[in-house]
Amino acid sequence: MAGLLYPKESQEIPFVETAHRKISTSLPHPESLGLFQELERCEARSMQGQPPIVWHRAEGFTVEDPYGNRWIDVSSGVLVANAGHGRNEVRKAMEAELDQGLHHSYCFPHQARADLASNLIEVTPGYLDKVFLLTTGSEATECAIKLARTHGVERGGEKKKRIVTFNNAFHGRTLGAQLAGGIPSLKTWIHQEDPSFVQVPFPDGYINTRVGFEAFLDSLKETSVSPSEVAGVMLETYQGATGSFAPVPFMESLRKWCDENDIVLILDEVQAGFGRTGKWFGFMHYGIEPDIICCGKGISSGMPLSAVIGRQSLMDQFGPGEMTSTHSGNPVCCRAALASIQLIDSEGLVGNSECLGEILHSRLAGLQDECSILGCSQGKGLIAGVRFVKPGTKEPDGAIAHAITRSMYERGVLTFSPVGPGGGTIKINPPLCITREALEEVLDVFGEIVREKQRETT
Ligand SMILES: Cc1ncc(COP(=O)(O)O)c(C=O)c1O
Repeated sequence: MAGLLYPKESQEIPFVETAHRKISTSLPHPESLGLFQELERCEARSMQGQPPIVWHRAEGFTVEDPYGNRWIDVSSGVLVANAGHGRNEVRKAMEAELDQGLHHSYCFPHQARADLASNLIEVTPGYLDKVFLLTTGSEATECAIKLARTHGVERGGEKKKRIVTFNNAFHGRTLGAQLAGGIPSLKTWIHQEDPSFVQVPFPDGYINTRVGFEAFLDSLKETSVSPSEVAGVMLETYQGATGSFAPVPFMESLRKWCDENDIVLILDEVQAGFGRTGKWFGFMHYGIEPDIICCGKGISSGMPLSAVIGRQSLMDQFGPGEMTSTHSGNPVCCRAALASIQLIDSEGLVGNSECLGEILHSRLAGLQDECSILGCSQGKGLIAGVRFVKPGTKEPDGAIAHAITRSMYERGVLTFSPVGPGGGTIKINPPLCITREALEEVLDVFGEIVREKQRETT
């Protein structure tokens, strides 16, 4: 399903000014229209669909356009700016590497890659003892699939190469990552063509209320896939489409089942990692040990870098030169990641995410009690997926969710366009350095808009 679009003509907008927000022009700004038209002319249409702001400068938890408008950002780009936008420490670390004259190095060794690999092993539990750096989250999830399949075929023969994933899952947009995904609107011909990827319902506790592990086994049985054919199970730590976590007992049983059947358990932490959920890694909420985790986005607070981190027995399956990438461990990106991880640590941003998360989720729960258009709000730490529905049903209302994000944009709070089933989910995931006061301001604005829409609807 293609997303809805925001208005392309400038409109007068009421003036807004607080310590962090300022809207003082028409929106979109008349001078920005030329840039939008140029992009429309030159770029694939798929790049359209976000609130029409020209990003000019971003600092901490705010984003500014070139015309004096400023938003509190609750998008973090797309869950990227965990340590905050435009952090000086990250910029200086990159500058030092650039000044040294090292812009790239392919697979030739360099200090920044060694520093980052060992740092990643330090911040993850000890049994995840090997790292492979890549550029995007999609590459990381595809790499994890490859590692699981290689292990499966090695241990169980040609048939043991199926990958089980979940409905509504998102693992990226490259071919393999998309095959693993479970978003119905992305289920094009490629999904039907590859029976080695199998999807089962995700126990989100809202749409799917069968959250016990027996439901997973029943669904798998329906697909006629036997555990002996499964090489790996991959799931997002929380579903990006809705913010929902699986229940802990479900994950404990999944871990046990994978062990019993020699199946690799992969947790896609591309969104959940680096403090987003109030723990260093989201899987720590489950108390289980995944075999491989995939990281990206918030790892570097802005530079393209991803990582597959896993058990040595899985990570060392390929020989020298057999699992590489041109931009693996780019030195400038490695320095950005090291500086960003250092900031997350030294500024206590994981704890900030946990504490402010409590405020975020309790205020959203209150709003849900008041407004029947707000069907459900899920998440932990500084990630909330707020689902909008047709009142009295669980049917997503993408139009209302879109209208709410538009009003947020007009009042100086920025999020990306709604996601999830029917485009009904608004994500609230600010940089982890947001202050309590700014978060409360966001929630005041959000609450005001949701109540207005509730009154208009009922
Ligand atoms: C959970 C998850 N996995 C993988 C990806 C793909 O990452 P990228 O867009 O960097 O390829 C995303 C991106 O949104 C994601 O949210």
